Amino acid sequence: MLCVHGSLVGWILLAIFVPTHQYQRPNSKSNSDNGLKSVCLGNVMRLTLDKELAVGSQLELEAINGSDIIQLSSTLAAQCGYSMESDPWGNTKIFASLSGCFVSNQADSTFHLGLRLRMYGDNLPQPVEYEVKKMCNYSPWASREVLCDRNYMEVSTLMVPTVTHVRTQKGHRFQPESSSNAIPDSVGAPNSIWKMAFHTPEMKVMVLEDFLKSGYGAMTTQKRLVLRSPYNMAETYSEEVAGVPMEVFSVSTYYKEISGLTVMDSVAACPTGGVLFTDDVITWHIPRRISPLISGPVKILDTFMGIDGQRLDKAKMSARHYRMSITSTHIVVEIPVGSPDGYYKSHAPDEEYHVTFTIEPMLEFVWKAENTQSDTRYKVLFPITTPMMLRSLHVIDYTIPEQKVFDVLLGPFLQDVELMNFNFSIGVLTVAECNARGFDVKEHRFANGSKTFSLRVPFSDEVVQTHNPDPLITTYYLPMVFGLLILPEQTPFQHLAEVEASLEDVVIPTITGSCDQKNFYVSVKYGSGGANFQTMMLNAGSWRELDSDLATLYSLSENDTHFSLTVPHLSPDTTFEVIHSNSILARVDLLLLQVPNMWKLNDFSLACFFPLTTTECFSNGTMTALAVKVESVHNLDPEHLTLRDQSCKPAFSSDRFAWFSFNLNSCGTTRTFFDNVMVYENEITMHQSTRKHGSAHPEYRHVVSCYYLLNDTKTMDFRTTPRTNDPIADPGVGHLVVKMTLSKDASYEDFYQAEDYPVVKYLREPLYFEVALMQSSDSQIQLVLENCWATLHEDRTSVPSWDLVVDSCENLDDRYLTVFHPVIADSRVLVPSHVKRFSIKMFTFARDETVVKGEVFVHCEAVLCDITKPHGICSGQCANPQRNVNPRPTSTRRERRNAGFRLQKKHQVSSGLILLSDLI
Ligand SMILES: *[C@@H]1O[C@H](CO)[C@@H](O)[C@H](O)[C@H]1NC(C)=O
Ligand SMILES: *[C@@H]1O[C@H](CO)[C@@H](O)[C@H](O)[C@H]1NC(C)=O
Ligand SMILES: *[C@@H]1O[C@H](CO)[C@@H](O)[C@H](O)[C@H]1NC(C)=O
Ligand SMILES: *[C@@H]1O[C@H](CO)[C@@H](O)[C@H](O)[C@H]1NC(C)=O
Ligand SMILES: *[C@@H]1O[C@H](CO)[C@@H](O)[C@H](O)[C@H]1NC(C)=O
Ligand SMILES: *[C@@H]1O[C@H](CO)[C@@H](O)[C@H](O)[C@H]1NC(C)=O
Repeated sequence: MLCVHGSLVGWILLAIFVPTHQYQRPNSKSNSDNGLKSVCLGNVMRLTLDKELAVGSQLELEAINGSDIIQLSSTLAAQCGYSMESDPWGNTKIFASLSGCFVSNQADSTFHLGLRLRMYGDNLPQPVEYEVKKMCNYSPWASREVLCDRNYMEVSTLMVPTVTHVRTQKGHRFQPESSSNAIPDSVGAPNSIWKMAFHTPEMKVMVLEDFLKSGYGAMTTQKRLVLRSPYNMAETYSEEVAGVPMEVFSVSTYYKEISGLTVMDSVAACPTGGVLFTDDVITWHIPRRISPLISGPVKILDTFMGIDGQRLDKAKMSARHYRMSITSTHIVVEIPVGSPDGYYKSHAPDEEYHVTFTIEPMLEFVWKAENTQSDTRYKVLFPITTPMMLRSLHVIDYTIPEQKVFDVLLGPFLQDVELMNFNFSIGVLTVAECNARGFDVKEHRFANGSKTFSLRVPFSDEVVQTHNPDPLITTYYLPMVFGLLILPEQTPFQHLAEVEASLEDVVIPTITGSCDQKNFYVSVKYGSGGANFQTMMLNAGSWRELDSDLATLYSLSENDTHFSLTVPHLSPDTTFEVIHSNSILARVDLLLLQVPNMWKLNDFSLACFFPLTTTECFSNGTMTALAVKVESVHNLDPEHLTLRDQSCKPAFSSDRFAWFSFNLNSCGTTRTFFDNVMVYENEITMHQSTRKHGSAHPEYRHVVSCYYLLNDTKTMDFRTTPRTNDPIADPGVGHLVVKMTLSKDASYEDFYQAEDYPVVKYLREPLYFEVALMQSSDSQIQLVLENCWATLHEDRTSVPSWDLVVDSCENLDDRYLTVFHPVIADSRVLVPSHVKRFSIKMFTFARDETVVKGEVFVHCEAVLCDITKPHGICSGQCANPQRNVNPRPTSTRRERRNAGFRLQKKHQVSSGLILLSDLI
């Protein structure tokens, strides 16, 4: 059980908060008669002041008694029968007892009341005043009327000339003390009170003057004695009646009657509790038999329930779902929480949202004592406020991730809650600042009196935090604290909310690249994460970060969307795949890693041929040769490379290069003579010290040669072994056109056309041939030149003939100087493996020691191979070299070849007529 009288708002210093925003209390009706309304409700008058009239911060109540104005302090009000209470918005209800001190009473049936309200405030230049005069008629009175108002207990009794000696209920016998029996002369007027005796329950006697001084009220009217006491006085006491705590005020009054001195007993007993709460219903219990007031059997004649002092009829009660029932012990009133006659209020103790509900029911009932036939009217005005009820707030997340906007709703709240600001991760933003920033903050009000707040925040805003649970998904996270305010008292409180959404919206950075004769050009286009990733470069088989030093080294340039690098082909961050006599196949590898998870976002690999002279032969007998560490020989240490004579070490070496410079008479260089050609040959090899002695095959072998012809010096191809990684393929894949063309120079850009034949060439001038598979983009096909030879007649089988390419390898016969050239993709060559290029020198066509002059035709047999099935000749151009030097032009081999077993799979191509001139 809870005592609810505590909900009374202070009396004279009543605080009325001036609302900064206009809040409509739910269901408050607009006032037709100027917001100030007085109504007679039986033995009380009610005055209501609408909040629209409530200005300033302080309200005082004054009683008008004729021309006098009496300021009612809270003590005087309780003593004189006035009560005042305001809700938080300033709606004020004042009750005045018709038996009050300053009421003009005509024959106990017509009553004139005068009240004045004065409102003060710092911002009011002078007090605002309202005066109310009201006449009420009330009769007949019951023999006894007990009124329990919010701040006092009142009992008005018809004065009958009888002396009561017995308080049967307590078994207490009242015997006037002999010393007090003499009536002083001053008490001379009719009905004038002399002294009182309290039953506390012990007896305590006071003369009228002391009684009034102590804060009690007492007066007689034409026929009635009226006594009044505030609650919790020294001479009142508490008693539990049928389980309901009640305050009892019990006095015997000595007063003078025409017939002489009379003593009359008056008792008022008012409930201070008896309320039970659930979330939905307030249940108020009043004892059916209020024992301090009753001495014998009684009969209940009438019961009424009301609100704010006003009785309700049955129809109104059922419309409001109010119930009143009478049990054997109690009168029980049930009121639904949330009834339109009361009001809700928000609270936020410990930052948790609560509400209370306040309503002021009234109970009035009349009973008749069966022995005396005297009736009692009992009336209680009883404001009830529920305990704080926790209201859970819901954060509803309406976010549709694809829209990239958080959409959050918080509520429900009562109308007295206002949204002030948000505390985001970057700081506090007011609602206005949020809206200015492009967030959409809205308040939604509903007819049932609740409201919610909604907020829309774009994912892109700084207040939204992001992280990536995996490389393609972004998770957006918005933590925030709603800053709320309860009006009118401006109590701030907060509510934490956090929402999260994931979207597969990561755009991965992409890498593109190209090459020219010197450099790799790599460009990285940023994805959705901007430049927020780490770039790794492959260096000597392991990844290293592109730091600021490397960025400088590779001339990194960047703008908002890209960065680009220029990586020289011999720089430390390239890998060598293959080396040819005059070119190197180098590769650059990049890897992009997400930060901080280091997920692989993208990788990139670009391999290009770059021209590189690796061997030089000088006429003074010096030869230089460059060896590089290729990827397939990963344990190669260039420092430990030697020539055939293992004491011949590199003149210079680093971790990737070894450069040899040696005299052709030294270092185990061999020399061979062919006609007018001298061939010097040596090998660059690596012999691991740990290897077994007698091991036939070094791990790395790189043949270098110098050809000296007449006064001329030429270099020749070399290869590295082992070449176990090279593919082996089956020949031939179909009916494709293979064409042989003659380029005007080594650039292979400009070709002789059909109308240019016969082409005239000087002796010893190189001829650049290209054999290409036409009209195919199948990169699985590799064209391999199996045999090429030259004849003096258009008939490819004519003799004499000279071998240029034998079993896919250059004919190493010194007179031919056949050289394969690497093919790099360009606008003309889409699939490099479809094209083979080689050059020959024209001094090679000699017979019987005489160089042939005149007409020459060149023929080739090409095989189309499936790259995925490397085998035999299809292992690649000169993949399995069998270095047979064909000593002389011969017809026998040619014929044998023409009877070949794979003829149908070979593509025969021939050049047009080339005229050799010896004018050089
Ligand atoms: C009220 O006014 C009447 C007449 O003017 C006066 O007799 C009476 O004493 C006043 N009452 C009080 C409590 O001042
Ligand atoms: C905002 O939130 C942060 C983190 O919760 C807190 O430290 C800070 O005091 C808050 N600021 C205000 C003004 O409430
Ligand atoms: C009030 O109405 C709104 C909207 O119709 C509803 O969402 C909310 O639950 C209602 N609140 C109560 C307390 O009935
Ligand atoms: C950034 O550089 C890239 C190439 O590196 C270029 O394509 C792009 O247009 C540049 N963007 C701006 C905004 O300059
Ligand atoms: C041979 O000539 C080259 C190029 O001119 C030169 O670098 C080298 O030192 C010379 N060698 C000798 C032994 O003179
Ligand atoms: C070759 O050398 C000889 C003498 O050493 C010289 O007479 C001749 O002109 C040279 N030939 C060429 C093509 O340089």
